[in-house]
Amino acid sequence: CFFVLCWLYIFPVYRLPEQKEVVREVLQHVGVWRRNLTAATQFRSLLQDCCDPGHSLALTKQNTPVGKNLWFDGELFHSVTIDTATRSLFPQNSPFKLPLKKCSVVGNGGILKGSGCGKKIDQADFVMRCNLPPLSSDYSKDVGAKTQLVTANPSIIKNRFQNLLWSRKAFVNSVRIYNHSHVYMPAFSMKGCTEPSLRVYYSLADVGANQSVLFANPDFLSSISKFWKNKGIHGKRLSTGLFLVSSALGLCEEVTIYGFWPFSIDLLGKSISHHYYDNRLPDTGFHAMPEEFLQLWFLHKSGVLRMQLEQCE
Ligand code: CTP
Repeated sequence: CFFVLCWLYIFPVYRLPEQKEVVREVLQHVGVWRRNLTAATQFRSLLQDCCDPGHSLALTKQNTPVGKNLWFDGELFHSVTIDTATRSLFPQNSPFKLPLKKCSVVGNGGILKGSGCGKKIDQADFVMRCNLPPLSSDYSKDVGAKTQLVTANPSIIKNRFQNLLWSRKAFVNSVRIYNHSHVYMPAFSMKGCTEPSLRVYYSLADVGANQSVLFANPDFLSSISKFWKNKGIHGKRLSTGLFLVSSALGLCEEVTIYGFWPFSIDLLGKSISHHYYDNRLPDTGFHAMPEEFLQLWFLHKSGVLRMQLEQCE
């Protein structure tokens, strides 16, 4: 009996709903959402207690003194001691005037294609996006154009911009669409992340670009990961989208999320692509997006945040 219990603890037996069941569930609640201020405040205080997003989201001079040992959140037993030169790249304090009012968090899900949600997304005071997504005029009707915070994974810098080892012009030009955004980079998550993140920093700073880099605080990323792990999310790493939604719930008074739908059919049962701009599927086993979705859906039903899945126009 002891071994059975151990086995169940390590490999819990549970069944994720089929996507058609998720669609049925969502359809039962379309159009009946209401904000629950008490639930939203409670959830914000849970996040505050575990992770303090307002103060800890990014590395700042205030939260990172010279000599601090930063443990990488995505790499076992690897740390870096912050020296004066590295600390000089951090802003003095968090650059955001808190609390932010209305925030849109935009995931990259194919559900956004044809949604007509661009206007609604841009009506928020603060818009967060994942992984330097395309925002050209082909997409703006569905995903908007406004951006204040955009994440960039070093893998994108490697794959799209030759790791910035050669010309940086294409990169600098391509991020112009994000206007005066902060580019949020996990420079201290894994060993291979630091150099490309520093290259992004200098590529933008050296040309006086409107965009500036914020380095993700690995302490914050690991405390957010623990928070969700304790709620039953089993992936190797949280998706960027869930990190951003968690941050927004700590920073913003009202949060609406778009493009969070890791399923291959839409609410009418029609096939859709994984992203609004392509159908490149994620690596299997790395993230647990359907589990993440169920947590976000629970927050939607509790009135903590609003998840937009239906068309806006
Ligand atoms: N997402 C989603 N449903 C989809 C596609 C994306 O919910 N069909 C959300 C996920 O939270 C994801 C985010 O949107 O993190 C950004 O999408 P993408 O750029 O595809 O993220 P990944 O490439 O999977 O990379 P990562 O999360 O590791 O940054």
